[in-house]
Amino acid sequence: MTDPSTQLIAADAKAAEIAAQTLLRGGLVAFPTETVYGLGADATNPQAIARLYQAKGRPAFNPLIAHVADLAAAQAIARFDAQSLKLAQAFWPGPLTLVLPKAEGCPVADLATAGLDTVAVRVPAHPVAHAILQALGRPVAAPSANLSGHVSPTTAAHVASDLDGRIDLIVDGGPVRVGVESTIVACLKAPTMLRPGGVPRSEIERVLGIALAEAVEDIDSDTPQPLAPGMLASHYAPRTKVRLNASQLADGEALLAFGPSVISGSEHATAVLNLSPRGDLVEAAANLFGHLRALDGRGAHAIAVMPIPDEGLGEAINDRLRRAAAPQE
Ligand code: TXA
Ligand code: MG
Repeated sequence: MTDPSTQLIAADAKAAEIAAQTLLRGGLVAFPTETVYGLGADATNPQAIARLYQAKGRPAFNPLIAHVADLAAAQAIARFDAQSLKLAQAFWPGPLTLVLPKAEGCPVADLATAGLDTVAVRVPAHPVAHAILQALGRPVAAPSANLSGHVSPTTAAHVASDLDGRIDLIVDGGPVRVGVESTIVACLKAPTMLRPGGVPRSEIERVLGIALAEAVEDIDSDTPQPLAPGMLASHYAPRTKVRLNASQLADGEALLAFGPSVISGSEHATAVLNLSPRGDLVEAAANLFGHLRALDGRGAHAIAVMPIPDEGLGEAINDRLRRAAAPQE
């Protein structure tokens, strides 16, 4: 739990500064965008992102949209090509999200992109969202501000009914204008429609001068399946084999530990990293992708993973670990 008492404030002159301060110290802030209310966290802070997944009650770490104030800020986190640049210039600020390759030195936490090498970016057109992003000067990861499985909120009251007591702050900017989420287009190979939304397909195709390709995956599913080969990797898979629920360590294995009592054999491990020595699932979630990547680079036969309790964020951690351990096609 982030904060048992959720503050509700009107979107007046001071609101953006209060919201930015809350985000800066790792807090969770619901704010209006033109599409739906978003639940924001500092996208560069993995602890804040872990708390965000916890507050939403998501059973899996779906990748999140990084919201930024303008195109220049977007270019600091993502690589644009001619087509994505055209779309950004035509529709930003506005209800279009672009999935792009991460830029060199992209500051967005691995947990926010679910370990992908791509990042979803959007410049919202709502003045309150813009003011918050401008005041913070960092990308804000924000899924819709509802509990997992509920419909997206279009008023502050909807947000409060789902998330009161689970987040720090709600900025009430009145009902939203668009009411459906942003359209999501991936510009990785051929521009591809991942989710219909606030910008109609026809307008996007008019700007591009070509038809959008179709995604084969339902990205709103809580358990996304991989897209057609070569399109998008849905989840991060280490090259090293991953062995789950390890109770002892074999020769040549690296260890991904959890909790205070580390399993036997670890003194011979190729490398040991602990997701949370004090057994805290929020801390473990924040460390998950970074530790997996680090151990993947250590030339071990396998990465042995200690059991993680399947409660709270543990469910999402175990979901990701099972995907990482699944045989690769
Ligand atoms: O209008 C909106 O887009 C709202 C407001 C708050 O901005 N946000 C929103 O976020 O709808 P969310 O988390 O409910 O939906 C984001 C979608 C998810 O389906 C996720 O799978 C997809 O974007 N997504 C994010 N990053 C992605 C990536 N790198 N590749 C593919 N899909 C991605
Ligand atoms: Mg949503």
